[in-house]
Formats: sequence, C-alpha cells, structure tokens
Amino acid sequence: TAYSHILTETRGKVGLITLNRPKALNALCNDLFTEVNDALRKYDNDSNIGAVVITGSQKAFAAGADIKEMKDNSFIETYKTDFLGHWAEMTSIKKPILAAVNGYALGGGCELAMMCDIIYAGEKAVFGQPEIKLGVIPGAGGTQRLVKAVGKSKAMEMVLTGSVNLNAQEALAAGLVSKIVPIEELVDETVKTAELIANMGQPSVAMGKELINKSFEIPLSAGLRWERILFQSLFGTADQKEGMNAFVEKRKANFTNQ
Ligand code: HXC
Repeated sequence: TAYSHILTETRGKVGLITLNRPKALNALCNDLFTEVNDALRKYDNDSNIGAVVITGSQKAFAAGADIKEMKDNSFIETYKTDFLGHWAEMTSIKKPILAAVNGYALGGGCELAMMCDIIYAGEKAVFGQPEIKLGVIPGAGGTQRLVKAVGKSKAMEMVLTGSVNLNAQEALAAGLVSKIVPIEELVDETVKTAELIANMGQPSVAMGKELINKSFEIPLSAGLRWERILFQSLFGTADQKEGMNAFVEKRKANFTNQ
C-alpha cells in the first residue's frame, strides 16, 4: 500500500511503522492516524509478523494532534463525528506494539506512545501534555493512561501546567518507559525486542498482552480468574508442548503459533 504520511517496512518478523511528516514534526493529522490504523490492522492479520514497532524521526516522535487541522472545529461537528475517536482503534490490535520515541512526544504524540505496549526512549526524548496551553485538555488518554504510568501528582502537574515535561531519565524513573537507548540505536534496539517477542508463540503473547491491558480495567479477582483460565487454555496448544519439551530436551523452542 502506498501511504502519504507513514513509511512501512518489515524486518524479519517485525513490522516497522515510521511516522513521516517531518515538516510538521509528525503532527497527527486525521489521515496520518487512519494510515497508522490501516498498517497496524494489516500487520495484525499477517501471520508472518509477530510484533510491530512505531517510531518517528530523531527530532519528533509526534508533536501532537494537528493543531492547524482542528483549530476551527466546532463542538457539534467534533461531537457528531466523534473527532479522533478512531485513534482508539489501535487498542484492539492483538499483536504487541512497541514505541521507539526519539525527540518530542507531546500531546497526542505522548498519548499515541501510551497506547503502545512497550515504550523505549531515545536519550533526548521529551514527553508532555501541553494541551492546556491551547485551551483544551488531552483527548486520547493523557488524563487516564498517564496517571497509571506516572502517578497522580506528576500527571496533574503535566496536564494542568502543560509546561512540565518528562525527559528520558524522568520518564524511566516514573515507569513511563522501560529503557533509554542512544538516539542512533533506538530503532534497532526496539526492533530487537520486538523480534524476541515475535519468536515466542503468538497465542501466548496475545493473551499476555490482553491480560496486562485488562489489569487496568477490571478488578483484581476477575483479572486473576481470566489469567488462570487463559493460562490453562494454553495447555491445548502445540506451542506449550514444544516449549516445555524443548526445555526438558535442553534445546531452543521452535514455536509454530498453533
Ligand atoms: C500542527 C505542528 C504541530 C502540531 C509542530 N507543528 N507541532 N503543526 N500541529 N501539533 C509544525 C509547526 O507549526 C511548524 O510548521 C513545524 O511543525 C515545526 O515546528 P516549530 O514549532 O517551528 O519547531 P520548534 O521551534 O523546534 O518547536 C517544536 C515544538 C513545537 C516544541 C514541538 O512545535 C510545539 O510546541 N508544537 C506543538 C505541541 C503541542 O501543543 N501539541 C499538542 C497538540 S494538541 P510551520 O509550517 O509553522 O513552520 C493535541 C491534542 C490531542 O495533541 C488530542 C488527542 C485526541
């Protein structure tokens, strides 16, 4: 598929999506997000792919939703069309999505990163929710996912001032990202982790992802029950037999996603 605002390539079992609107610092216009969702859906349906990486440029992962595109919107049209509601489609993707964040991840850019399953940060990454300075608030998880990632006080500071950003070190300390990588190596390093995941059995990876995401939404007892049932269900897969036999036979497991 030819896309206008993103680049896609496959590296081994990993699908790599690069946001590519450099002149606008990857501002997330409506069409760009539609393309991201389309690429994600295709990778999700491609049995040769096991995980996806989303990245931007070295200067900007994404500087937010496109301010120029939305500045004249009215309430009634944004409400009737559920403006930016389609962003959430990516949360229904089964395969793991890793974000490789270099440079600015502001507003919707930070929210896009937080909709991913794992975030790696380049050394100069900046995370922030500056929407309040535009007279609005975050609209794709900045008041919800950010709290879970960095706690209430820091999230309040970020969202209510719009000026308190997290650098890579602060994001790591807060738990928003799981690793800091030198700028040049960020994409390769993220693809490496994605490849590691892609070589595991896809049913167990998808269940692990789903359960961890569920933990944000359902009570502990229900989450634990779901976890045990899905764990038990994996004994019906060839991958479980292969994984455990490989351990006993002291060899590397070769999963077939069955
Ligand atoms: C549209 C944007 C943009 C954005 C940058 N640009 N961010 N265009 N929407 N969010 C454009 C600029 O207008 C400019 O184009 C070009 O990109 C380069 O940006 P500069 O500002 O010249 O670069 P620099 O001085 O290096 O500053 C970088 C920056 C700044 C600090 C990231 O661009 C900035 O503050 N951007 C806005 C960040 C923001 O407020 N994000 C939240 C958006 S609201 P021209 O053509 O003028 O040269 C949001 C709501 C989410 O995300 C809701 C989700 C549902």
